Amino acid sequence: MSIHMKRSLLAGVFVALALCIVVLVSGTHRGASLPEVTIGGPFSLVDGAGKTVSDRDFRGKFLLMYFGYTHCPDVCPTTLGAMAEAMDKLPPADRGRVVPVFITVDPQRDTPSVIGTYVRAFGPEFVGLTGSTAAIGKAEREYRVYAQKHALDQGDYAMDHSSVIYVIRPDGQFVAVLDDQMPPAKMAQALVKLGV
Ligand code: NI
Repeated sequence: MSIHMKRSLLAGVFVALALCIVVLVSGTHRGASLPEVTIGGPFSLVDGAGKTVSDRDFRGKFLLMYFGYTHCPDVCPTTLGAMAEAMDKLPPADRGRVVPVFITVDPQRDTPSVIGTYVRAFGPEFVGLTGSTAAIGKAEREYRVYAQKHALDQGDYAMDHSSVIYVIRPDGQFVAVLDDQMPPAKMAQALVKLGV
């Protein structure tokens, strides 16, 4: 297992724990004095065609949302491949109700055209989003994404990042996280259960 993998797994565990705590806190203290912990929020990013896209542009659709980066050697392409397979396994009538979205944690290298070309390899329905460092940072904070640059040889770098799939409802509200290791058939089942 590569260092990248180990770090990614650690990051994934970290975020999974953080999300469990979020769910536990919001589940057991509903209406209590603890501050509301939310996942998700408004964003304004740029798609593969260079067009500015906000969360509001997706109202009426379920989003299957994943944060990663195009230089990722393993976890991101595997997860996006699983998302593409899950889309194929949805009942045909439901497929148009779900938009798979890939948001970069590496806006420095993932320009609109780079991320646009990358996501097209996973299917025509995929949307790739990038943006300014500030806009990406805001989305990462809203979705509790862990992302950290680490240096490699010859000035190269990799991004350690959390790896969970977020499901957003047609009204824009976050509804669930799916494990990135979930088999595509189960992912499709989970989406149907969530009302897709
Ligand atoms: Ni990755």
